[in-house]
Amino acid sequence: MNYPKVVKILETKKETLDIKTIKFEYSEDINPGQFFMIWIPNVDEIPMSVSYIGDKIKGITFKRIGDATNALFELKSGDKIGIRGPYGNGFEIHGKNILFVAGGTGIAMIAPSVEEAMKKDIKTTVLIGVKNKNELFFENRIKKYGAELLISTDDGSKGYKGVVSDLAEEIMTDNKFDQVLTCGPELMMKKLFEKSKNISFQASLERYMKCGFGICGQCCVGKGLRVCNEGPVFDGKTLEKIEDFGIFKRDASGKKVIF
Ligand SMILES: Cc1cc2nc3c(=O)[nH]c(=O)nc-3n(C[C@H](O)[C@H](O)[C@H](O)COP(=O)(O)OP(=O)(O)OC[C@H]3O[C@@H](n4cnc5c(N)ncnc54)[C@H](O)[C@@H]3O)c2cc1C
Ligand code: FES
Repeated sequence: MNYPKVVKILETKKETLDIKTIKFEYSEDINPGQFFMIWIPNVDEIPMSVSYIGDKIKGITFKRIGDATNALFELKSGDKIGIRGPYGNGFEIHGKNILFVAGGTGIAMIAPSVEEAMKKDIKTTVLIGVKNKNELFFENRIKKYGAELLISTDDGSKGYKGVVSDLAEEIMTDNKFDQVLTCGPELMMKKLFEKSKNISFQASLERYMKCGFGICGQCCVGKGLRVCNEGPVFDGKTLEKIEDFGIFKRDASGKKVIF
């Protein structure tokens, strides 16, 4: 499991100008919210959440931002990549009424969890926040599952005008949820956490990863919690004790980077 399995890309789909989904055959069982380490030959190996969970076919959905994601973006059906994992824990999905809050590419990680909640007949509301309508993806997928979907854009080009944590605050004032589950920019998740004090809360964190399975210590937060192993999803009680949450992360060299 800790060696990359080389797979052929079966299908690629451009979701937006800069966001792509890649699907491949990989038969391991996956919990929604887990991630793979993706090896792009001759370039790098990077963590990516699993965005599609079929029995045999799995997928990842990513934004191109640097060397590795740009190289991955250029790959076509038939090209090969290496997959390690799945790693990490994923969301605990239970209760009667769940609010999912996704910022930017966070919906890639959240979509399989929405599917899981709908399978469990849980009333599910999904908020997706993006900068503008051109960055929106998985809108139809979430609607197809039957979840209630609300969109926010920073520039008001679609849905609520403003940031998704403010939309969440409005929705939480009018509705009673027993869980808030989130993935997105950490400052957004911190703000949401502060507004969800009496509700069960889970957030998926991103930290720089090297091994992906708990041995290198690169992704530690708080008092020795490994995001790749004890996370990436942490509950509210644990987040309270992670002093880095919403304050800083570490770069590849281990140096602190303030959010
Ligand atoms: C558990 C997890 C799940 C993720 N899931 C997704 C996803 O579903 N879709 C998506 O678009 N992105 C996801 N990411 C982020 C993705 O890993 C980075 O965008 C990618 O590594 C950038 O690499 P690059 O070479 O293109 O960019 P670079 O220019 O090398 O880096 C740009 C930024 O990406 C981050 N990054 C780079 N390398 C790593 C690394 N090895 N580990 C963690 N972060 C890194 C750093 O913040 C860095 O500043 C996830 C990250 C983590 C930790
Ligand atoms: S990436 Fe090595 S311990 Fe988490």
